[in-house]
Amino acid sequence: MQRKRTHTCGELRKEHEGQSVTLMGWVDRRRDHGGVIFIDLRDRYGKTQIVFNPENKAVYQIGKTLRGEFVIAVSGRVAIRPAGMANETLATGEIEVIADDCEVLNAAKTPPFEIIDNIEVSEELRLKYRYLDLRRPTMQNNLLLRHRLYQVVRRYFDENQFVEIETPMLMKSTPEGARDYLVPSRIHKGKFYALPQSPQTYKQILMVAGFDRYFQIVKCFRDEDLRADRQPEFTQIDVEMSFVDADDVLGMVEGLMQRVMKEIKGVEIETPFPRLSYAEAMEKYGSDKPDLRFGLPLVDISEIAKGAEFRVFREVLENNGTVKGIRVPGGSAYSRKRIDELTEFVKEFGARGLVAIKIGESDWDSGLAKFFDESTRRNITQTFGAESGDLLLIVADERERTNTVLGNLRNRLARDENLIPDGEYNLLWVVDFPLLEYDEEEHRYVARHHPFTSPMEEDLHLMDTAPEKVRAKAYDLVLNGYEIAGGSIRIHKRDLQNKMFSLLKISPEEAEKKFGFLLEAFEYGAPPHGGIAFGFDRLAMILAGRQSIRDVIAFPKTNSALSLMDGAPSEVDARQLRELGIKIIGT
Ligand code: AMO
Repeated sequence: MQRKRTHTCGELRKEHEGQSVTLMGWVDRRRDHGGVIFIDLRDRYGKTQIVFNPENKAVYQIGKTLRGEFVIAVSGRVAIRPAGMANETLATGEIEVIADDCEVLNAAKTPPFEIIDNIEVSEELRLKYRYLDLRRPTMQNNLLLRHRLYQVVRRYFDENQFVEIETPMLMKSTPEGARDYLVPSRIHKGKFYALPQSPQTYKQILMVAGFDRYFQIVKCFRDEDLRADRQPEFTQIDVEMSFVDADDVLGMVEGLMQRVMKEIKGVEIETPFPRLSYAEAMEKYGSDKPDLRFGLPLVDISEIAKGAEFRVFREVLENNGTVKGIRVPGGSAYSRKRIDELTEFVKEFGARGLVAIKIGESDWDSGLAKFFDESTRRNITQTFGAESGDLLLIVADERERTNTVLGNLRNRLARDENLIPDGEYNLLWVVDFPLLEYDEEEHRYVARHHPFTSPMEEDLHLMDTAPEKVRAKAYDLVLNGYEIAGGSIRIHKRDLQNKMFSLLKISPEEAEKKFGFLLEAFEYGAPPHGGIAFGFDRLAMILAGRQSIRDVIAFPKTNSALSLMDGAPSEVDARQLRELGIKIIGT
């Protein structure tokens, strides 16, 4: 190809009038207007209108053959569009290029969907033809935003003396708690590498190695149940620092978020971010990642409900349960059907039912009123701060279940009632997580974060007597109801680590087998250290205003971990399996 592109399709303006230019790109749209053919030529920078006049027979003939998504090179002259024909919605809308030469660089089949935003097409088809999907302006913008985010992050950490260090993809299984993706070793038959669930152990070892401040933008792999904000392979901004306490890590992250919001969204945000304890988050919002862009707090009426006749409440309270609810302003207009729908919804989260009480002019407008005496009714109404026209939605159950059920209901009500303001970014820290949680199936405690997370000094005395009450030096960053980052201060002393392992019922032999290399490294001078990791895709998704991380990942997997474009995972040759010493024994 002899031609050279002189400009992009988003570049030409009035001041280029009269210049000879060569553009290259994809045919976006072709319109025949009484003999004159108009083409919108598209590339990632924008669109430019090209005019094919019948007077120039040779080029006009080529113009007639052009179809959507043909790749062409056009040479011509920049002209100001005739009066009244300017297109204000297009950056190049004041000009057009009068073609005097055109070459089809490559013809294209008719695409399975139009290359425009707001297409009504299944995500499966978009993923199969991802290269076409990625040609659409929103998708291009999403990936450009992601690109800018990488640059802001790298600049920030570089300016703060962090060192970017790559860690292995083929490694020993990590302790993050999801299932590993395994890679069989050909040289060492019967042995496997694991793909990193995170570089957790490596970054801690880098602190032992004296790097002091480390960061990496890194792929992580977890074989877990997928959903809109979870992919089997995803990207973290991984960070670790030495000689710090939690406040230092949080401060560094707040600075990063300030920079990100300013440079990506042009938004100034205030620091420090509010901090909410895990216990408070669960009690008040029913979630460890509460969305505080809206209210609808959970209200506890257990004490008041104790005196009521109502059997459902009484039984739960007698069994140490709790009675809590949400006030829906104006909700007494809800139909029976709507309340039934919400009842079905809470049942999906394990609730036995949902008590709905409409607040009338002077008293409850509810068949349940007779089970509560007048003062109890008034007391409940007041505790909710309810007014005439409101609706109380109440769940009675075991405490944790009540909270999570209502937390989910709270989010749903906010969506349904349009209570979530657009363009707002609500950042908060959730802190004081419990160190451990009890695994009912395995009958033992497991680490909520990972086994290297440090307990709080003031709770150390509880480790033997009430391990479930020990709080961790762990923190999560929440943005608009998404957990976008999580981390902790680590245990760096051997005796405390041994204690933790014994609480987790990890025997010294098992600890040695799994993390022996890390424990050994700790014996050679481990500095106190801690860190955090961001879900990069989640952050990009929120900044791009999308609902799914698939929209900010170039080649994502489906919810069943398939790559529809290239067909991964796929079978492999019998020879490959033989070499690996692997036999498929059926599914
Ligand atoms: P954690 O497991 O909390 O911590 O992960 C950190 C952040 O990564 C994001 N994330 C995911 N994003 C997309 N798909 C997934 N499957 C997925 N899983 C997690 C979340 C989460 O907040 N090593 C520790 C960090 C540390 O202690 O420094 C870790 O990986 O946004």
